[in-house]
Amino acid sequence: MAGSTWGTMLTMTTWGESHGRGLGVTVDGCPAGLLLCEEDIQRYLDRRKPGQSRFTTARQEGDQVEILSGVFEGRTTGTPISMIVRNTDQRSHDYSAIMDVYRPGHADYPFDEKYGFRDYRGGGRSSGRETVGRVAAGAVAAKLLAELGVTVTAYTKSIGPVTVSGDKFDPEQASVNRLCMPDAEAAARAERYLDGLMAGGDSAGGIVECIMRGIPAGVGEPVFEKLDARLTHAVMSIGAVKGVEIGDGFAAAGSTGSRNNDSFRNGRTTEAAECDAAGASDNDAVSDSCGSSEARKAVYKATNHSGGILGGISDGDVVILRAAFKPTPSIARAQQTVNRSGENVEITIKGRHDPVIVPRAVVVVEAMCAFTVADMMLLNMSARLDNVKRVYGR
Ligand SMILES: Cc1cc2nc3c(=O)[nH]c(=O)nc-3n(C[C@H](O)[C@H](O)[C@H](O)COP(=O)(O)O)c2cc1C
Repeated sequence: MAGSTWGTMLTMTTWGESHGRGLGVTVDGCPAGLLLCEEDIQRYLDRRKPGQSRFTTARQEGDQVEILSGVFEGRTTGTPISMIVRNTDQRSHDYSAIMDVYRPGHADYPFDEKYGFRDYRGGGRSSGRETVGRVAAGAVAAKLLAELGVTVTAYTKSIGPVTVSGDKFDPEQASVNRLCMPDAEAAARAERYLDGLMAGGDSAGGIVECIMRGIPAGVGEPVFEKLDARLTHAVMSIGAVKGVEIGDGFAAAGSTGSRNNDSFRNGRTTEAAECDAAGASDNDAVSDSCGSSEARKAVYKATNHSGGILGGISDGDVVILRAAFKPTPSIARAQQTVNRSGENVEITIKGRHDPVIVPRAVVVVEAMCAFTVADMMLLNMSARLDNVKRVYGR
């Protein structure tokens, strides 16, 4: 099966099935010397783990990670970092009833058409469990990005019709409530909405928003490897994602040029005025900052409709991405479908499923964004001759 490797300078190759022995990932291209231990990875995996609330699948997996290679005495060695998570709570018999039947909204039919054979237990590689490897790889990337002053944070923006309110936005809430919503009131309303759907054997979709801070201007490769193109590719590859947008995204189509363009400003202008007011010569701190190249280069945008990317290259502003997740395809209601013989049949899906994918997918979006930004930042290092010469001391 092709298509399990992502990245250019920093790569991840994920492997494993939902009901196989385990899942894992090999991360290659991580610079040597990065402090890394299993707890760094486990913290991320615990956010993805099933069985943590009534809004996630009841499957109980410890999802304990083991680092098999690439780390010595607590630091990366520059060689492939291989990580494994063993499956412990498979109930493959739950799936025997659907081995010859195609679940609506799931990947069964196209997998069978493509390979003429499929691992029907939990969807094999098309299972949400495939994201274990992505999250482990994303945790490595996040550690690397922390060294570069970049943070990547995702949260639930909406579930069904319930959207987080800008006025009540509280980032702490996203790590406190079960739906990862940074708005306690919206989370309570979303819980009621989900309870109603679950009582009727139905499921919900929603939106994950991801905020990337600290990415300097200049990251992203024209023409096919634009930063927005890479980010959307990375996030669209997550199961159940049906749309990805950057900045104002689809709303920009209904805007006008005068509203949508972000004015450029130079902070130097403000600082120069401050220098004059403070009397730079009387104040060493102000004087230093007035003469610095940072002040000369203090270009910023008055607004951020672009979502931090122009021409496929980061513009120095916060990068904003949103991913739309469809409702979980496996629902408890009877549905119409066909079997492998092409007969019309009715299907009632057993097994344990997420009534909404979004809360568990938050960390997956974060991981894919972190990994992609880290990869693109490494790639950007050869863009200027003076940078290349600096590496070689020439
Ligand atoms: C974290 C995560 C958890 C998921 N959990 C389930 C689940 O419990 N039941 C289900 O039917 N699909 C689940 N999915 C979605 C399926 O993997 C996905 O819908 C399916 O592979 C079809 O692909 P598509 O929706 O991208 O077309 C999950 C996806 C993710 C990312």
